[in-house]
Amino acid sequence: MFELTGKVAVVTGAARGIGRAIAWALASRGALVVPTDAVVSSPDVGDSPAPGSGRIADLVRMNVTEAADVEAVFAGVLAEHGRLDILVNNAGITRDQLLMRMKREEWDRVLEVNLTGAFVCSQAVLRPMMKQRSGRIISISSVVGQMGNAGQSNYAASKAGLIGFSKSLAREVAARTITVNVVAPGLIDTDMTRALPEAVQAEWQSKVPLGRFGTPADVAAAVCFLASEEASYVTGQVLAVNGGMYT
Ligand SMILES: NC(=O)c1ccc[n+]([C@@H]2O[C@H](COP(=O)([O-])OP(=O)(O)OC[C@H]3O[C@@H](n4cnc5c(N)ncnc54)[C@H](O)[C@@H]3O)[C@@H](O)[C@H]2O)c1
Repeated sequence: MFELTGKVAVVTGAARGIGRAIAWALASRGALVVPTDAVVSSPDVGDSPAPGSGRIADLVRMNVTEAADVEAVFAGVLAEHGRLDILVNNAGITRDQLLMRMKREEWDRVLEVNLTGAFVCSQAVLRPMMKQRSGRIISISSVVGQMGNAGQSNYAASKAGLIGFSKSLAREVAARTITVNVVAPGLIDTDMTRALPEAVQAEWQSKVPLGRFGTPADVAAAVCFLASEEASYVTGQVLAVNGGMYT
């Protein structure tokens, strides 16, 4: 099930956390995965043996906010592998602050990476996907984009923006059999959530009906479904992976 043999995938922000897990999960289902990240210091996903039947290429440096960088990386992937089937817009950052104190640069940077980055990468893959008459664009939003969160108005706006962006793009490219969907994780155990004070982590966890933080693998499984043939009639949707904390 969710077989991806022969598919070529690019994942942004894949050096660690959820992006890394997504790269592994796609490869374990047979895809050839090109992991990319703005930061390529160790640990490098390419250092590890390839899981399952797929392959993970060496980690490629790609800052999603640098259009020239993005163009060059996707051109390279096409030149080397001849096709591009799956884009996962995963790269994301937080710069939490109450709006009253939020600096313009904290607003701008979060929107630039989380939302404009997805725009730049999605635009870069559209032409090859339209030529192929197939493709999957999957963006990682957040439960915060659906329910809001004090201190995260910039992050919530960027993540809600991904939902509107994806629903619109889904309508634009459906005729070319390209699907565009969103995965909205809740609290996932990664560096991003470990950076929160322990009391805040405990308080959040108490709000999750399933009683635990999610794992990067929980999110990756949802991405694999949306990337698969089995999801070919699913587009413009938001798949929540949040343990029931927001329904
Ligand atoms: N961890 C959670 O609880 C949670 C919940 C909901 C959504 N998300 C979203 O999932 C995604 C991954 O989160 P994570 O927890 O693994 O975060 P993380 O901070 O562990 O990893 C994010 C990765 O993105 C990379 N990155 C940052 N800016 C970049 C840029 N400009 N260009 C390319 N790469 C860049 C970082 O180098 C890092 O490797 C993010 O979009 C995040 O908003 C996370």
